[in-house]
Amino acid sequence: MSDRSATAISCSNIAFIKYWGNRDNVCRIPATGSISMNLGSLTTHTTVTFDAALTRDHLTLNGNPSSSQALQRVSDFLALIRKRTGQFLFAQVSSENNFPMGTGIASSASAFAALSLAASTAAGLTLEEVELSRLARRGSGSACRSIPAGFVEWRAGHNDDDSYAVSIAPPDHWNLIDCVAIVSQEHKSTGSSDGHPLAESSPLQQTRVQQTPQHLEICREAILQRDFDAFAKVTELDCNLMHAVMMTSNPALLYWQPATLSIIHAVRAWRQFGLPVCYTIDAGPNVHVIGLQKDQDQITKRLADIPGVQKIICSSPGGAAHRADG
Ligand code: DP6
Repeated sequence: MSDRSATAISCSNIAFIKYWGNRDNVCRIPATGSISMNLGSLTTHTTVTFDAALTRDHLTLNGNPSSSQALQRVSDFLALIRKRTGQFLFAQVSSENNFPMGTGIASSASAFAALSLAASTAAGLTLEEVELSRLARRGSGSACRSIPAGFVEWRAGHNDDDSYAVSIAPPDHWNLIDCVAIVSQEHKSTGSSDGHPLAESSPLQQTRVQQTPQHLEICREAILQRDFDAFAKVTELDCNLMHAVMMTSNPALLYWQPATLSIIHAVRAWRQFGLPVCYTIDAGPNVHVIGLQKDQDQITKRLADIPGVQKIICSSPGGAAHRADG
């Protein structure tokens, strides 16, 4: 492995059935399966170069040398690849997001999906999609869902071998749009990695885990049948259940801001009056409003009128992680 380089691009994703809590926090074996859609407008572009002249790993994020915490996480991930190949070169990693940093939009999914493909390729490995998804999971759980295309299901599995994501429908299967309403650009107080281990402390997590197979089934079918009503109902239920777990864990996590709640009320009212929309929220205050592409202008206009909405970023279903250099 001498001076090998590769570049990859990957989309972020939004989960409709959520991942919250792990059976194994080290390998990121989740307590439940999850279902997501890749976000075609939110991508990370990453180049990895293994270089015999380096004495440690280096990371630049959007052109700036990165903090020690982010570098450590990337370095730990690269160590998995070094162990696998038996070749112990350090790497220069350069990663750029096409979406503004600090908007509170999660970037670990697209970041670790792109890093998995770029680093494994640069290290001389040619991994099948399932293997790449398993590898990406070790960097960030949700990243395993950014490897396959379009609408994706992460099969929880029980161990490192059988926990990975697969595509359940290609991007052009359903003309959905995700309009993310940004209500806060602050860094979240408790990141997902610190949040997952708290899930078990909620009295509601066991119930959530028991109900998820049913939610996965309903959501998968709703996507396959393009049944928006069924999809909206299960997506909001699953989101509310995850936030109920967060709010009742010890310590309790409350990610919502007043504007988050205003959007929830608005989306429910719009749907009642006939506009096919629903909401879902990750570990932060921003709201993903899911609707049909033909209604994008109407959705963004309505969101822009809600006090507290600072910015709206819309994405259609995105493709698989892919190489950008060959
Ligand atoms: C609320 O994948 O960011 O967005 O595995 O620790 O990197 P780590 O966590 P992460 O968790 C995502 C949590 C979520 C729900 C989801 O995307 O399914």
